[in-house]
Amino acid sequence: MSESSNPSVYQTYWDPETNSRHGDYARGKDVIVRARDVAKIYRMDLPKEEWVHALRGITMEIYKGEYLAIMGPSGSGKSTFFNAIGGLDQPTSGQVFIDEVDIAQLDAKELAWMRCRKIGYIFQSYNLITVMTALENIMLPMTFAGTPSDEARQKAFELCKTVGIDHRADNKPSELSGGQQQRVAIARSLANDPAIILADEPTANLDFKTGLEIIDLMVKLKEEKNVTIISATHDHEMLAISDRVLWIRDGQVDRVELREDLKIEKGSIH
Ligand SMILES: Nc1ncnc2c1ncn2[C@@H]1O[C@H](COP(=O)(O)OP(=O)(O)OP(=O)(O)O)[C@@H](O)[C@H]1O
Ligand SMILES: [Mg+2]
Repeated sequence: MSESSNPSVYQTYWDPETNSRHGDYARGKDVIVRARDVAKIYRMDLPKEEWVHALRGITMEIYKGEYLAIMGPSGSGKSTFFNAIGGLDQPTSGQVFIDEVDIAQLDAKELAWMRCRKIGYIFQSYNLITVMTALENIMLPMTFAGTPSDEARQKAFELCKTVGIDHRADNKPSELSGGQQQRVAIARSLANDPAIILADEPTANLDFKTGLEIIDLMVKLKEEKNVTIISATHDHEMLAISDRVLWIRDGQVDRVELREDLKIEKGSIH
């Protein structure tokens, strides 16, 4: 365990072994992502005193089928944590297990398989391919996974219906509204039936009403497909639908709250 980690904070708030309410929540649930003392230091070419300690030892268990919101001030390390648990970037120290497999032990091919099949990514800025239509964007992960093109096309169209953009399937991203582009990104993240969806600020660029529609859509996905959704957000509406909230501060777990801790009436946090 690195000297910068602070297990006492983590234990006080949610350690299932010492906190009975969190224990009750965890009971009977399978862990799908396990972060153990994950730290990330951006060194660049700076002298040691100027290194950026983006994550200072995060220990967290995320359960299969839960909706976990990650909250924290700008620069607190949310995206860095996402990149670490999504296998997009390697932590400086610590481990990430997905389905109890240490992802640092995967070779390039296995890691690519995991990124393609097991995890769906939704980014704040949608990250759609501009020269492709909505349908083609949604087909892309299936093409990477080797799905025959007829099958991929058919499934992509079904996904268009799921997210409510089937009438815009043949349009390119520049011809779609922000909300519609985000729906395409959500459909794309579902293409290979991932067990986990990592959504980094999925409603950040949307107006209030469209944000609510996207939130409703994500709830529906969780309920119908039992996917695990991990979503960094500044959106308090999104907290209202979360099973738990992980608060990160200065690269550390500040606290983990169960939904009942939030005392939420939809849309307002007290
Ligand atoms: N590639 C990088 N090189 C150097 N420093 C970085 C890099 N990426 C992030 N950082 C720094 O690491 C810290 C955490 O950044 P991160 O992007 O994880 O924050 P965040 O919580 O996602 O913020 P926001 O809410 O603004 O998206 C910040 O101080 C940031 O400047
Ligand atoms: Mg971020």
